[in-house]
Amino acid sequence: MKRILVTGGAGFIGSNFVRLLVASGRDVIILDKLTYAGTIENLDDVLGSTNTRFVQGDVCDGSVVKDLAKQVDCIVHFAAETHVDRSITDATEFVRTNVQGTHTLLEAARSHDLRFLQIGTDEVYGSTNEGLFTESSELRPSSPYSASKAAADLLVRSYSITYGLDEVITRSSNNYGPFQHPEKFIPRMITNALNDLPLPIYGDGLNSRDWLYVDDNCRGILTVMEKGVRGETYNIGCGQDRSNLEVVKAVLQLLSKPMDLIQYVPDRLGHDRRYALDWARMKSLGWKPLVDFSEGLGLTVEWYVSHPEWWKHSS
Ligand SMILES: NC(=O)c1ccc[n+]([C@@H]2O[C@H](COP(=O)([O-])OP(=O)(O)OC[C@H]3O[C@@H](n4cnc5c(N)ncnc54)[C@H](O)[C@@H]3O)[C@@H](O)[C@H]2O)c1
Repeated sequence: MKRILVTGGAGFIGSNFVRLLVASGRDVIILDKLTYAGTIENLDDVLGSTNTRFVQGDVCDGSVVKDLAKQVDCIVHFAAETHVDRSITDATEFVRTNVQGTHTLLEAARSHDLRFLQIGTDEVYGSTNEGLFTESSELRPSSPYSASKAAADLLVRSYSITYGLDEVITRSSNNYGPFQHPEKFIPRMITNALNDLPLPIYGDGLNSRDWLYVDDNCRGILTVMEKGVRGETYNIGCGQDRSNLEVVKAVLQLLSKPMDLIQYVPDRLGHDRRYALDWARMKSLGWKPLVDFSEGLGLTVEWYVSHPEWWKHSS
């Protein structure tokens, strides 16, 4: 696969993935609406090259999507509304972009016989206090965000069964790293600490996530794009579970800020306690994570410290 359409490529994971694709010698078309969550600045270092093209547009716009689908061999679909708290306030855009947008892309992929890579999330499995979710675990999403992502995954799978579409789904755990919007947990904690503002933690602070450095996820997605078995789902995790409280303490320590900046706030509605993935299937493709949490968090903190203009502009 030489020519790739990346949707949502001006967002956090999408822009990091575009960099990896360009480095691998692919031709890349990026389709992004540039909502509050995406910015063209995230692609500054790659947009000058002759093998990348940026198109500002909506994944729900069938005519734009069909026109771009003609020009590629594969679609990697990141574009989504992604912030759980926003989905609790109003889920309308989540259903439109995450479900309708995925349907629009699937129709285009089917017409042009393309490979379709759906970027999913471990949040579709819901919460578990112990054990690991495998790819065949039940889908039990808790938030309107994760429900819209589960609906999209099910649509993707139906296109493989009904129409024989060449599709693969990845479901990763929580990502962190450079270019993540400051509304998300780790950037919010880093930027508040840099501004000497309180660091709000939901509930008792013991909700835990398996934190995956974004470069590891992007390498995993590339591996699945190249070697993933048609119709299969791949969990991408890394076994780096940390509670929110542990993450916040580590951020404060790295920035030499006082622990009394921690502020407990009422819990999020429907807040999942713990996510944890079995990623043996990714190992069978030859992938493994390379960055552990303390190294990744150090790199991430350094990036936010050295890019204040980026996060002040995005906040
Ligand atoms: N961030 C995580 O921890 C994580 C974990 C697992 C899975 N995912 C999935 O990975 C994907 C990317 O997540 P992210 O954190 O990079 O998201 P993000 O919010 O940083 O970026 C989303 C991008 O999609 C674009 N977009 C939104 N609506 C659009 C539309 N209608 N048409 C075209 N573009 C549109 C935005 O402008 C933005 O550039 C999502 O599908 C998300 O569900 C994210």
